[in-house]
Amino acid sequence: MSLLKLNEATIRFGGLIAVNKVSFELKKGDLFGLIGPNGAGKTTCFNLITGVYKPTDGQILFDGKDITGTPSNKIANLGISRTFQNIRLFKALSVLENVIVGGFLRNNTGLLSSLAYLPGAINETEEMKQEALRLLDVLNLRQVANVRSADLSYGMQRRLEIARAMATKPKLLLLDEPAAGMNPQEKEELNVMVKKIRDEHGMTVLLIEHDMRFVMSLCENIVVLDHGEEIAQGPPAAIRNDPKVIAAYLGEAV
Ligand SMILES: Nc1ncnc2c1ncn2[C@@H]1O[C@H](COP(=O)(O)OP(=O)(O)OP(=O)(O)O)[C@@H](O)[C@H]1O
Ligand SMILES: [Mg+2]
Repeated sequence: MSLLKLNEATIRFGGLIAVNKVSFELKKGDLFGLIGPNGAGKTTCFNLITGVYKPTDGQILFDGKDITGTPSNKIANLGISRTFQNIRLFKALSVLENVIVGGFLRNNTGLLSSLAYLPGAINETEEMKQEALRLLDVLNLRQVANVRSADLSYGMQRRLEIARAMATKPKLLLLDEPAAGMNPQEKEELNVMVKKIRDEHGMTVLLIEHDMRFVMSLCENIVVLDHGEEIAQGPPAAIRNDPKVIAAYLGEAV
């Protein structure tokens, strides 16, 4: 069953067409990759899907509804959650509090901004806490539950972003370069975790990533953008050998 569908999604910024008639579809339970060189329009696709930007043309459908132009808080409530290319944690809060705030956000968007920056301001219930701890287990962060998020290693901060995004119990999880800045061992561990998130937590995952080994070993389907245009779509083996993809990356190992 189709969960997300982009139908010729397009957005212009002045003279630049950042995303140009991009179409792809995720079925429930897919683990899908979105790749392409710098500036290809990948993050902009996430911004279109999450309602940060309204498409100039085309449609976005989610879970049977047309969400084109729907405000981002409503889209979040429908079940789409994301991480950011530039980590956006509540730095003064503990790891556990960051996840609790993530869950809280689903229903209390307004309250969040006034509370979240004050250490100790989160009055969590035992149930919220237990649920957050379970998510920390998934991302292997329980042992640092009480550490200030600003004091975590970069790799751990990226994993915390994922745990926090999962706290809203989304149907669709969008990960923007989750492995960026990680060392090979951390990437290997993350690879297993993302698979588990799909297999054991029933979330559909769309991820942007520059590390080809990571994407190719994890995703079952991949869409490739270049200069805002979709140049290829298919399973990793086909993408790896696609002349258009190789040309777009020009010299980079695919
Ligand atoms: N709000 C905006 N206003 C103007 N131009 C924008 C805006 N957002 C994105 N762009 C432009 O759209 C193009 C695509 O940007 P985008 O961030 O989606 O690329 P990307 O594929 O995520 O690249 P990277 O791999 O470097 O993160 C770029 O040329 C960027 O400068
Ligand atoms: Mg980007």
